[in-house]
Amino acid sequence: PSAKNWDGTPLYFYKGVWYPVSGIRGALSFQQHFIARDTDIILASMPKSGTTWLKALAFSVVNRNIYSPTESPLLTTPPHDLVRFFEMDLYSKNQLPDLEQLPSPRIFSSHTHYESLPPSIRGSSCKIVYICRNPLDQLVSYFHFARKFKRENVKPLTSIDEGFDNICRGIQSYGPFWESVLGYWKASLERPDKVLFLKYEDLKEDITFNLKKLAEFLGLPFSEKEEKEGVIQEIAELCSFDNLKDLEVNRTGFFKSAGAPNSTFFRKAKVGDWCNDLSPSMAERFLKIVEEKLAGSGLSFKVSE
Ligand code: A3P
Repeated sequence: PSAKNWDGTPLYFYKGVWYPVSGIRGALSFQQHFIARDTDIILASMPKSGTTWLKALAFSVVNRNIYSPTESPLLTTPPHDLVRFFEMDLYSKNQLPDLEQLPSPRIFSSHTHYESLPPSIRGSSCKIVYICRNPLDQLVSYFHFARKFKRENVKPLTSIDEGFDNICRGIQSYGPFWESVLGYWKASLERPDKVLFLKYEDLKEDITFNLKKLAEFLGLPFSEKEEKEGVIQEIAELCSFDNLKDLEVNRTGFFKSAGAPNSTFFRKAKVGDWCNDLSPSMAERFLKIVEEKLAGSGLSFKVSE
């Protein structure tokens, strides 16, 4: 281990990526062993960027002809159990999961950077959907998530100032932030049929437009009849923060692989909430670093409503 994460656990630097202790072995095993199918759908993100939301949305779009919104498994199962993480869950602790039995299309998720994905994912026609969030809200969300953990013999960081220098150097779970984002951003420009790049803030602003974009990208566009019948709105409501956070299944229970209660994946879901935790000078410093790293890429973020 060469650094500490915000929750006090070690981080490992491997081929340009900071892996948490819960993900390093799984990430290596995933990279070595996973064989993609052309029909697979991979949801990728930095932690705390809207992964849980994207899982609910993609699951609902893909399975909309199997379950009506009132019968959706999302009502009784946490999104992370319906769309499982590769490195932290399926491949963690040296497990070699049997994924052959799963019917197509399979939906998985990952925090692995584009460059570190298994060759069969980049080489096959499977689809990748990346969700990114502005770096200030992502890091504040991560801070609140990390400080909820109580681990034996580990002293978690208690103030946002303590880990901030590390964050500015890109040291966080699956960081550097800019490497993760840039890898998928460039891939989405080079291969728009393969990689869809979504922004959390855009989804908050116009979920209907973005659900249509997601469905079209996945080759499952909404028909006129579906649009008239309000299927898009039903999915948006089912997957909304207000709906998911109040479900019994998400208020209780524990997500073992992440070592976190299910409820920790639902906090405020606001754009611009960072201003309650970061001072203006911290925000300015971090934004300047991210902007320098992304210079010339054409990628920008909305940091307030
Ligand atoms: P906040 O901590 O800012 O509230 P991830 O799913 O990648 O772990 O990201 C978690 C963040 O997404 C949290 O942000 C959480 O509240 C927010 N979130 C979870 N479910 C959501 C939903 N259905 N719609 C919008 N935001 C959601």
